[in-house]
Amino acid sequence: MAAAVVRIVLIALQLAGPCGAAGAALPVVINTWAFRKATETAWRTLQLGGSELDAVEKGCGQCEIDQCDGSVGYGGSPDESGETTLDAMIMNGNTMEVGAVADLRHVKNAIGVARKVIEHTKHTLLVGESASLFAVRMGFPYEDLTTQRSLSVYSRWLNQSCQPNYWKNVVPDSSKSCGPYKRLEKVSFEEETISQRNIHNHDTIGMVVIGKSGTVVSGTSTNGGVHKIPGRVGDSPIAGAGSYADSTAGGAAATGDGDTMMRFLPSYQAVEYMRMGTDPTVACQKVISRIQQHVPKFFGAVICANTTGSYGAACNKIPGFTQFHFMVFSPLQSQPAEQVVDCI
Ligand SMILES: *[C@@H]1O[C@H](CO)[C@@H](O)[C@H](O)[C@H]1NC(C)=O
Ligand SMILES: *[C@@H]1O[C@H](CO)[C@@H](O)[C@H](O)[C@H]1NC(C)=O
Repeated sequence: MAAAVVRIVLIALQLAGPCGAAGAALPVVINTWAFRKATETAWRTLQLGGSELDAVEKGCGQCEIDQCDGSVGYGGSPDESGETTLDAMIMNGNTMEVGAVADLRHVKNAIGVARKVIEHTKHTLLVGESASLFAVRMGFPYEDLTTQRSLSVYSRWLNQSCQPNYWKNVVPDSSKSCGPYKRLEKVSFEEETISQRNIHNHDTIGMVVIGKSGTVVSGTSTNGGVHKIPGRVGDSPIAGAGSYADSTAGGAAATGDGDTMMRFLPSYQAVEYMRMGTDPTVACQKVISRIQQHVPKFFGAVICANTTGSYGAACNKIPGFTQFHFMVFSPLQSQPAEQVVDCI
């Protein structure tokens, strides 16, 4: 079904557009969710002569400024101690360099810091307060990421006995009371239930930009799962999980329940399918089905684009999440286009 929808879109683009096979044209900007301003910013950055890295940095950075859906940037998704912490990555598909930060505190422009990890260190991933110190050295302001909104989300959560939360097999019973918790000697295994909490606040901007010459760059930025246990890092800053870029094959980015998705390296897998010539929509679908086989009820979606500018997306169908919206900008259109796929 999702394939059919995207095929119709591609046919429409083919009719509308002057160039490219299968409705594809370069450059292309594609990002998760209906984060239109991010798409516009990335596109404008390219038009003004910026590189693909600049476009991804500025595009995802726009969401950090806009606090997209409260799930990117400062003032969203307070953790169990009420603090907002950020995860971001950027990947250069020409050099295969990755810069990433995780559990970044007190610095708003997480993807900007991730870019500096590429440019000013030989590392790939910096975390926690040490990443903040690095950011300050790189000239980023050290600020409070708390807002009235994040405080009120936090106090509402405290007032509802810290529900929902991410603990299990602890005392007191984490499904009824707040911590601090101690571990239960007897560990029981239960089937994972659908996490409703992120479905309505989306969760991550993931972006793939492919330049005119076929350079692929990907990136992500998020403030992670709301009420996460401090120290938790999701899929977003992990190369191959949150996003992946390889200028010889394509780019992909994932959004959803990172704790589940990062175990499958979905972005890496999607790029590898495209390397074998798989259509981008099908590549995304195959990645979703692979996870489905193990965790039928996971919340998640993937966007995929190959080096000739064809793109697609797929998502896992669960109650409350049956369609996934994403944004595309290419020379075949005069403004960012919101697209929808039916989940499989
Ligand atoms: C806490 O929840 C109760 C109802 O369970 C409500 O009466 C009270 O106003 C809430 N307090 C705050 C500070 O939200
Ligand atoms: C990208 O995908 C399109 C649509 O499936 C396909 O026609 C094209 O050959 C692909 N490009 C590459 C480089 O594989």
